[in-house]
Amino acid sequence: MQNEGRIVILGTGIMLGAHITPVAKSHLQAADVVFAAVTDGITEQWLQTMHDDVRSFAPLYELGKSRHETYQQMIDLMLTEVRAGKFVVGAFYGHPGVFAYAPHKVIELARQEGYEAQMLAGISAADCLHADLGIDPGRVGCQYYEASQFMFYQRVVDPSAYLVLWQITLAGDRSIARFDTGAAELQLLVELLSGHYPAEHQVVIYEAASMPFEQPRMEWIALGDLPTARLTLKSTLVLPPSRPLQKNSQMLARLQALQEL
Ligand SMILES: C[S@@+](CC[C@H](N)C(=O)[O-])C[C@H]1O[C@@H](n2cnc3c(N)ncnc32)[C@H](O)[C@@H]1O
Repeated sequence: MQNEGRIVILGTGIMLGAHITPVAKSHLQAADVVFAAVTDGITEQWLQTMHDDVRSFAPLYELGKSRHETYQQMIDLMLTEVRAGKFVVGAFYGHPGVFAYAPHKVIELARQEGYEAQMLAGISAADCLHADLGIDPGRVGCQYYEASQFMFYQRVVDPSAYLVLWQITLAGDRSIARFDTGAAELQLLVELLSGHYPAEHQVVIYEAASMPFEQPRMEWIALGDLPTARLTLKSTLVLPPSRPLQKNSQMLARLQALQEL
């Protein structure tokens, strides 16, 4: 038998008031308590128009404090209310399952403890990116990486596909406690990429519009200029392919042979 409390983790989308799905909105309004992990006070105020008990996670973020600790606190706060038998909603900006640790973890833990737990999709920065930049991931493929993880581990880059680096402003942060890193870390990233992309390769700093009156930022720069570029917590770096798709002649020949059978 399932325990009484339940949790729904939903996405509020990127653009204020415009991206939340009808199903997410109805869960939000039906909840006993709403926890909010959104990017600004205006979005919190908008959530408060739909529910009178919205608790912000914003004060949990502090310069110099490990984000691991912050995420654990979010999880604990949500689970405490679930264990008290409440219907808890965790409202995360964008899509709650895209480049976000706490949403997946809290669902896993709630289910382990016998509570009903569900994630509802939201409009991610990725969705806006594909629309604004006109990139169809099906055309030549598209790789997504978190920028620091891309630097810390050996990755296999396919330069015939798009490469999208998330959290670019935190690239190379080993402390997990900063709000940005510096030109030196970005220079190392440029060096790491230089095996596949020349310094003059044109890349785009992308920021989806989060207010209805804003335009997306789509700033094209040479990769070599990344260390001095203006980056914010909203910036995502997109590298278009640097070489065309290479045919897999062996596989094509084998497929041809199959057809001829
Ligand atoms: C922790 S992730 C959260 C992503 C979020 N869950 C989503 O679905 O978009 C934060 C990263 O998402 C990207 N991001 C967030 N807001 C963005 C925006 N408005 N435009 C472009 N990228 C954004 C940036 O790479 C940022 O560092």
